[in-house]
Amino acid sequence: MANSSAPEFRKGATPAEVCKNLADYIVTEMGRKEGPFHIALSGGSTPKLLFRLLAEEYVDKIDWPRLHCYWGDDRMVPYDSPESNYGMTKELLLDQVPIPAENIHPVPTQLAPEVAASAYTEVILQQLSKNSDGLPVFDLNLLGMGGDGHTASIFPDSMELLQDRRICAVATHPETGQKRVTLTGPVINASDRIVFLITGEGKAVRLSQVLAGGELGAPYPATHIRPTHGQLLWFVDEAALPA
Ligand code: 6PG
Repeated sequence: MANSSAPEFRKGATPAEVCKNLADYIVTEMGRKEGPFHIALSGGSTPKLLFRLLAEEYVDKIDWPRLHCYWGDDRMVPYDSPESNYGMTKELLLDQVPIPAENIHPVPTQLAPEVAASAYTEVILQQLSKNSDGLPVFDLNLLGMGGDGHTASIFPDSMELLQDRRICAVATHPETGQKRVTLTGPVINASDRIVFLITGEGKAVRLSQVLAGGELGAPYPATHIRPTHGQLLWFVDEAALPA
């Protein structure tokens, strides 16, 4: 049964303000628990501002040896490809902060897609505690939303991944055919904190449909992300969610 708590908005006037709010939230939430803090990161362009901010202003605010980074999805490309979510995060954040190399868990994109999905599943199962359903629990799952309402690499033409009982699955970009590895819906929804970071007026119409839910939101994967027991927060700017 999905958690019925209403979504919580953390709205900022600009993308920069939203990313500062999110960075401060991460610091606060890391302080609420002991030991490792397992965070799944989103890719694409939206989080770049957040990663730059963390690298520039949060080096001394985050206990980096406690932070473990994963990716909610990645493209099956080499790490040095401009398409790589891990490569982008490495350049903008991970190479700039004192996070131990053993705390960084990229999708092994050098492997064949199905092999990579299985290998990544093993990494996640080894590192994370499990809930009563046997699902690994991320402390924080950072998600974006594409213009088509996809999240991670769960696209509107692969809604079955929202219920897939595997931990990771191979996804295919509907337009480019690019292969990806993605977390599945149940794993995302098992997270203690699910955080959407969505900015820009280009996302406003789709976001309004997703938030409306029901028939309007049904075709879009982001609509169906609902924590089973944790928090759902939307870090959005004015352009994406006008007053
Ligand atoms: C990816 C992301 C994806 C992203 C959305 C939004 O690999 O592309 O994980 O889910 O969050 O596509 O991307 P933008 O931030 O570039 O709009």
